[in-house]
Amino acid sequence: MIERLKELRVEAVAAFEGASSASELEEARVRYLGRKSELNQASRGLGKLPEDERRAAGRAVNEIKQELSALLEAAAERLAGGAGGGAGEPDLTLPGRLPWVGRKHPITRTLERLETIFATLGFEVATGPHIEDDFHNFEALNIPADHPARDMHDTFYIEGDKLLRTHTSPVQIRTMQSRKPPIRIIAPGRVYRNETPDASHGSEFYQLEGLYIDKGVRFGELMGVLQKFLGELYGQEVVVRFRPGFFPFTEPSTEVDIECRICRGEGCGVCKNTGWVELLGAGMVDPRVFEAVGYDPDVYTGYAFGLGIDRIAMMMSGVSDIRLYHENDLRFLRQV
Ligand code: DAH
Repeated sequence: MIERLKELRVEAVAAFEGASSASELEEARVRYLGRKSELNQASRGLGKLPEDERRAAGRAVNEIKQELSALLEAAAERLAGGAGGGAGEPDLTLPGRLPWVGRKHPITRTLERLETIFATLGFEVATGPHIEDDFHNFEALNIPADHPARDMHDTFYIEGDKLLRTHTSPVQIRTMQSRKPPIRIIAPGRVYRNETPDASHGSEFYQLEGLYIDKGVRFGELMGVLQKFLGELYGQEVVVRFRPGFFPFTEPSTEVDIECRICRGEGCGVCKNTGWVELLGAGMVDPRVFEAVGYDPDVYTGYAFGLGIDRIAMMMSGVSDIRLYHENDLRFLRQV
């Protein structure tokens, strides 16, 4: 009998180790360890053996049972851990694994959206340096050294008259200097101010400038193009308000508001209970600006506008703190 047990053991070890699927393993288990297995029958028949054989046979049966149980467990683990899970066959009902793909920054996506809208309105993209000089950032825009408007534009000064641009308006000057009308451009980009950061101010942010110069451009065209732009951005039902304003480089000037989209004009925290949210500054290019770039103000007229890109991004996705955009925290950036 011990001889037979040894043979059985060899067969069973081979079957457990060779099993290549859960069903094969189960078959082997039933065959070698099941209730009707030879091993079990041997174990039950032990009592019939003569006294002197019984002890040795009993020990052999127990040892083999223990060894085979351990092997069975190991084989089950091996199959469960293998590629595709338990059955050794892929589980086709599991959701697939998505490759991790990067995405554009929300400010970039907003910027591209604005560029697309203005492209359909006939505007091309112009750029200018971030390190500007006093003339392009201030003087030519009719902001002389002692003008109070400079208080709002404190910045980081480099050497001599070099400074980090405080707005995208200097691109107006550079474009007019290097081209002849008609000019129809937008100039998006980063701007800098010496600000103490808070929820709505940062020392770096993004603006988009617009400029259209030709013979006979009128204020009504400015209103029309901005109404059209805001309609494309927020939906045609957007309510736009033009309010008189002041900018040194435009005359007349206007501030452009939209009815608060959160409370529909009722008044809430976002619109500071006014029902309106300010989005743009705009106006007709001041004759002093034309003189600074050598254009004849009796021949040409034009309009300009400027908006904050971060602001638009915040309004579109309900973000209430501008600093979130510049901290590079992926937990935030992946959501907006
Ligand atoms: N440059 C202005 C600022 O940073 C924004 C602005 C207002 C630009 C009116 C314009 C404009 O072109 O017409 O505060």
